[in-house]
Amino acid sequence: MFTLSFLDISSSQIVNELKSNGYFIFEQALTEQYVEQLLQEVNFQQILVNTNDVGVVYAYNQKFLTHCLASSKKAYDVITSQKVLDICQEYFDASYKLTNHRIFQNSKHAHMPWHTDNNLQIGSKIVGKHNMPGLLFLFYLSDVTKNAFQYIQDSHTYSHKYNNEIYLSDSFINGNYKKDILTFPMCRGSIIICNIHGIHRSEPFQDKNYSRTNLLFQVDQIGSENIGHGEKNLVNTEYLDNLTPELMDYLGFNFKRNYPPFPSTSVATMTPNDILLLQKQLLPQTLNAFAKNIVKHILPNELITNGKRMLWHLKSNRLNISKFSNKQ
Ligand SMILES: [Fe+2]
Repeated sequence: MFTLSFLDISSSQIVNELKSNGYFIFEQALTEQYVEQLLQEVNFQQILVNTNDVGVVYAYNQKFLTHCLASSKKAYDVITSQKVLDICQEYFDASYKLTNHRIFQNSKHAHMPWHTDNNLQIGSKIVGKHNMPGLLFLFYLSDVTKNAFQYIQDSHTYSHKYNNEIYLSDSFINGNYKKDILTFPMCRGSIIICNIHGIHRSEPFQDKNYSRTNLLFQVDQIGSENIGHGEKNLVNTEYLDNLTPELMDYLGFNFKRNYPPFPSTSVATMTPNDILLLQKQLLPQTLNAFAKNIVKHILPNELITNGKRMLWHLKSNRLNISKFSNKQ
């Protein structure tokens, strides 16, 4: 999973950098092969339409697999890795929990406003800022030359001055902190960890041939006064091969979660082009459903059941014959 050079850096060193700078970066923390295998577990082209599973949704030019702990073992292994837990263990003074997580892809254009991630929510609405310690983990899953993560140096020490703002405007940041903007273009597999109180964004970009793919998750030291803080963690139980009391606490076993999954999506959050592409996929299925419906209405139920039985017998006979001839 992790490159030897990343594993060589001790958690104490990473935490020291986080405490003094507010961020830590490392190029190629994940191996090429691991990133490749992780991406094979995500199909950004297949979106959820009456699908009885977790999967990908579209929010304008962003595609999200929010519940990746339920559908990507590779993502699960990164999020629950000993390295991540060691960093958290050393960084936080008290119990810490996974607050949210997702794999997402930005395409064509994006203009994210400057913000911090110490948000308090009621439902999906941000209602204020909190002062709980927290860390944001971001892994690049594609080479990032545009739309790179940007962080305002030392902003974690003073961002509380802007606690009454949900976002900070480009003109305000350019007027006051332009010289402090750090930009991190890096190759895929790279990691950025930062203090959630730091002011950050992804650098705006416009390029219809470019996309950036990421794994992102946030860990907060949630105090007893903030029970319910965070999104639910849907986990595939098949993946839980490393359960310890520490990990159960981190994943939020028996811990209340009040926030809905991010982002909130529907057909209305798809681009017109994506809606058209979806219609194209749905057209043959719609015609098929109509045809089936007509047949169901015309033929008596008994006849349909007998037809299904005959088909099943034919298929199982064929299967037995082919098994038999294979043995010969
Ligand atoms: Fe953020």
